[in-house]
Amino acid sequence: MEPSEEFIFKHKGFYFQPDLTNSEYIDSLEHFVVRDSDVFVVTFPKSGTVWMQNILSLIYYEGHRDGTAKTETIDRVPWLEYNFNKMDYDSRPSPRLFSSHLPYYLAPRDLRNKEAKVIYVARNPKDVAVSYFHFSKHAFIFEKVPDFNILMERFLSGKVLASSWFDHVRGWYTHRADYNILFLTYEEMKKDLRSAVLKICDFLEKQLTEKELDVVVEKAIFDNMKSDPRSNYEDKTCILEKGRDHFLRRGTVGDWKNIMTVAQNEKFNKVFNEKMKDLPFKFIWDLN
Ligand code: A3P
Repeated sequence: MEPSEEFIFKHKGFYFQPDLTNSEYIDSLEHFVVRDSDVFVVTFPKSGTVWMQNILSLIYYEGHRDGTAKTETIDRVPWLEYNFNKMDYDSRPSPRLFSSHLPYYLAPRDLRNKEAKVIYVARNPKDVAVSYFHFSKHAFIFEKVPDFNILMERFLSGKVLASSWFDHVRGWYTHRADYNILFLTYEEMKKDLRSAVLKICDFLEKQLTEKELDVVVEKAIFDNMKSDPRSNYEDKTCILEKGRDHFLRRGTVGDWKNIMTVAQNEKFNKVFNEKMKDLPFKFIWDLN
C-alpha cells in the first residue's frame, strides 16, 4: 500500500506535506537569510519536536516562563518549511527560534557559517514509528494507516513524512562538522531532564538562575505540558481532530514494545543494523 499523494509529496528526494508548503518555497529556503542569533530545532517527526520547542521558548521568553505570555508554541518556534500562520520571518525580532524537519541538504546554506545554532533531537526509531502510527489516527495532516505493519514497512522504506529516518539522522550526524550543532536524544531528556536543559543552556550560552531552571524543567515535564493548551497544540484544529486525543500522547521510552510483534521487531533490527552499522553512534537508547 503506497502512501497517498494527498498527504505527502516528494521534492528533491524528500517527503513534505502538500497543504502547508510547496516546491518553490522549499527551494527558496536555500537562500533564507539566517541570523547569527537564530536557533533551529531539527528533528525527524515524532521525535520530541514540541518538547524542544517548549523548552527553548521557556528558556528564551520570560513571559512564557512566568505564565503571562499567551502566544502558542507554533508562533514562538515556527516551522521554517511549514509557515502555518503566514508569519513574516524576516521581520521577527532576534533571537528567532525555528523548528524544521528538513534534511541537511535542503537546509539554508547560511547555517553552514556555523554561527546560528542547531539542536538536533533524535529518538529511538521504533518509538518514532509507533508515535507516528498513533498520531496518524487523529491528525488531519497525516494519512490514516489502518495497520501498524503497513506503517512500519513505509517507515523502513522512507515512505512517510520526512522520508527515511535513517537518512535524516545519518545526514545531520555525518555533516555535523558543517554546523554549530548539538545532538540530544529524547531518551536522555527523559532520563534526566534537568541535565538536558543545562546542556541546552550551555550550548545556547544562556545563563539561567537555579530558580529559572527549576521552572523550565517543571513546565517541560510531560504531564504539565499536556495540561497546558499552548504547549500541546490543543487549539490547532488544523492538525488534530477536535476532542480526539492530544498532540502529547504517552511520552514514554519503549512504547514500541506494546505494539510490535517479535517478527516486526526482528525485521526492524535487521534494517537498523544494515543502515546504521557503520556509524560510530553516540546516541543512547535501549533499542531492545
Ligand atoms: P508519543 O506519541 O510516543 O507520546 P513531535 O513533537 O516531534 O511530533 O513528537 C511527539 C512525541 O513527543 C509524542 O510521543 C509526545 O507525547 C512526545 N512528547 C512531547 N512532549 C513531551 C514531554 N514533555 N515529555 C515526553 N515526551 C513528550
